[in-house]
Amino acid sequence: MKILVLGSGAREHAIIRALIRTGTAPQNISCAPGNGGISQEVSVISLNPNDPETVASWAKEHLIDLVIIGPEAPLVAGVSDALRKENIAVFGPSQKAAALEGSKSFAKEVMAAADVPTGMAKECSNISEVEHALNDFGAPYVVKADGLAAGKGVIVTSDKQAALNHAKPFLDQGMGILVEEFLEGEEVSLFFLSDGASVLPLSPAQDFKRAYDNDEGPNTGGMGAYSPLPWLPEGFVQEVQDRVALPTIRELAKLGMPFLGLLYCGLIVTKKGIRVIEFNARFGDPETQVVLIRLLSPLASLLHKAATGQLTTAIEPEFSKDVAITVVLASEGYPVSSAPNRPITGLAEALQDEHIEIAHAATKQEGVDLVATGGRVLSVVSIAKNFHHARKHAYKAIEQIKLEGSHYRKDIAAKVDEGKDD
Ligand code: AMP
Ligand code: GLY
Repeated sequence: MKILVLGSGAREHAIIRALIRTGTAPQNISCAPGNGGISQEVSVISLNPNDPETVASWAKEHLIDLVIIGPEAPLVAGVSDALRKENIAVFGPSQKAAALEGSKSFAKEVMAAADVPTGMAKECSNISEVEHALNDFGAPYVVKADGLAAGKGVIVTSDKQAALNHAKPFLDQGMGILVEEFLEGEEVSLFFLSDGASVLPLSPAQDFKRAYDNDEGPNTGGMGAYSPLPWLPEGFVQEVQDRVALPTIRELAKLGMPFLGLLYCGLIVTKKGIRVIEFNARFGDPETQVVLIRLLSPLASLLHKAATGQLTTAIEPEFSKDVAITVVLASEGYPVSSAPNRPITGLAEALQDEHIEIAHAATKQEGVDLVATGGRVLSVVSIAKNFHHARKHAYKAIEQIKLEGSHYRKDIAAKVDEGKDD
């Protein structure tokens, strides 16, 4: 099977590593545009992953059997539609179905129609509606931009003025705002492979969205993750499948927009039960790094079956009993700004530990040097028999990596650290 992966982040690097680990030959994988780490494993192509015609004609010319779309931008641009027109299998929903991620109000409509549990929300199109809704729900306030905002569209704050200030620039751009009820509880990211009619779950993970330790600081794209979640109640995955994933997929099919790809369910486990806080139409980053490193089943075949409507013939994905954590190394200033073009050293030393993999996000190779090119630079991933070990290895590795001004969270998976060596 010849595979093209679209994207340039640590998620795509993790997908490629999992493909190779579960049986795909590296020479059968290409990635566009890739990054400094991906280029060390497979061939990278400099084509614009967001241009439907360019991607479709390249895939056709190179006899690609499966295209895996990593980020949301190509989905929103209609790349999967262009590929399907050429009869090329693509793991990634159509532009229309991807609105489940791109439009929070559309996601709310689908959930209401399918009776999927989610927080109460009010759609607002001007600042006085926002203020009314904030007053109605009370603090803490949750304000969401109703469109793609690269992980920066949401604020959770007890400061009403900050909530209003967050909403203003989005309203000025003509974007709607959703004010939502605050939901209290642990967050879970649970991914489902979907072929438009049926789903298969992957293993649950938890993402650390805030920039600093103890969940302080601004929201980011994700600063770390771990998987599995030992504290989940029995039957959790089945419940999310039955009450969230399947009804959502069926509702989309009813609307004439079958969802072939990855349904990312972002959930909060509240005292009153599970609630969806967001859907994404793609693998999560950095959760993918900790989920796929534990995957034992052949990834290419699973994704191909989802892309071609044959998931019922697939065997449920199997995962290692080992646990995984990832810690993201971010550039100075992230998430507000980034400090590009600084050299990164120490990777070879960190990689001497067999428990460690490094997924590159914003890196490029410049001669013999590896340099940082953006906000989230690397994901250090570690896999071990328990969280205590996994954390020890991950933090030892990240300390060996040098990037001027960089920062990372020290508390990833701290709550599940058993605190013992065995
Ligand atoms: P989202 O982009 O919708 O995942 O939101 C980003 C982050 O904001 C989530 O990971 C949560 O930590 C937080 N969040 C979103 N919605 C809510 C909510 N209704 N109640 C509490 N926290 C929320
Ligand atoms: N880690 C959150 C996301 O991928 O949206």
